[in-house]
Amino acid sequence: MDTSKPTLVLGIETTCDETAAAVVERQADGSGKILSNIVRSQTEEHARFGGVVPEIAARAHVDVLDRLIDSAMKEAGIGFAQLSAVAAAAGPGLIGGVIVGLTTAKAIAMVHNTPLIAVNHLEAHALTPRLTCALAFPYCLFLASGGHTQIVAVAGVGNYVRLGTTVDDAMGEAFDKVAKMLGLPYPGGPEVERVARGGDSARFAFPRPMLGRADANFSLSGLKTAVRNELSRLTPLEAIDVADLCASFQAAVLESTADRLTVGLKLFEDKFGSPRALVAAGGVAANQAIRTALQDVAAKAQITLIIPPPALCTDNGAMIAWAGAERLALGMLDTMDAAPRARWLLDANAVVPAGFANTRAGF
Ligand code: KG4
Ligand code: ZN
Repeated sequence: MDTSKPTLVLGIETTCDETAAAVVERQADGSGKILSNIVRSQTEEHARFGGVVPEIAARAHVDVLDRLIDSAMKEAGIGFAQLSAVAAAAGPGLIGGVIVGLTTAKAIAMVHNTPLIAVNHLEAHALTPRLTCALAFPYCLFLASGGHTQIVAVAGVGNYVRLGTTVDDAMGEAFDKVAKMLGLPYPGGPEVERVARGGDSARFAFPRPMLGRADANFSLSGLKTAVRNELSRLTPLEAIDVADLCASFQAAVLESTADRLTVGLKLFEDKFGSPRALVAAGGVAANQAIRTALQDVAAKAQITLIIPPPALCTDNGAMIAWAGAERLALGMLDTMDAAPRARWLLDANAVVPAGFANTRAGF
């Protein structure tokens, strides 16, 4: 691969409930530019079920992916022959959707004789800040979405050390489940944040999970149960009760997150020295209260906080294309044998923490 020339990479994302395609250009100096980034969310298809239904997700990806890719290529103003590579998220995620995206990428790669790159979806989140700003390794990533809650040392492309993870529910999942039990619409995270603004965060003394522990792991299911227990005592449930429950739940998440990240940054320092930045990604990073808590953690640790724009924090094709471009520059290509993977550890050496209970948690 001639790394002295700009490269053009098509990225395809289908691991959960967003179908996305994007074209990204990487310059020889390592900087990146998004030429197109089209995301179609399946929220409407899943809303009446209160969560993502895997079979519906896979079918919805099939329905729209080819047109989405066509639009992304047109918007970028290029043809398939000009692509340097085609990248698809090959996992971790809902296997039906992953198969749709990876198979489509393989077909394009085969027909146009283009290199294929099978990207780890978590790696794509991890590398996104290098697309939006010139960030050098190593840095510390806090990834919190509907399926993942991790603190990761990003030491280089393909070089990740997991410093902490959830032992049960993912953070976005906990927000969604609390919203559901309170009768708020799906997806629940933004709703809980909105309703919490009008509530009293001190009314319910919910537990602060894992506070003070020497490891940097998270736990959210006990907190969710505490909300459920409190809820069952509140009859009839008034709007103010819902607001207070949301505010008190969110306050517990914030305090736990700040504590876990402070420990995570210490673990980082011990292994890699001072991180170049603390980076946040995933849908939960869209939460303003969480952003403020991260700001405090970063200020206390005297490191820069980088949160990519919301559209690049949540699932999108540009992050997959960019991870593909970073891999391409290092000659890290895949073959037609690349397998779709429901589970795919970012850090192959990460051990499953004691108490591990949830297969959605991103191990
Ligand atoms: O990264 P993402 O778009 O998709 C994946 O899960 O991969 O994250 C979606 C998750 C959902 O659980 C959603 O409820 C949560 O992120 N989320 C939020 C907020 N916005 C999205 N959680 C809390 N506060 C928010 N404002
Ligand atoms: Zn994601």
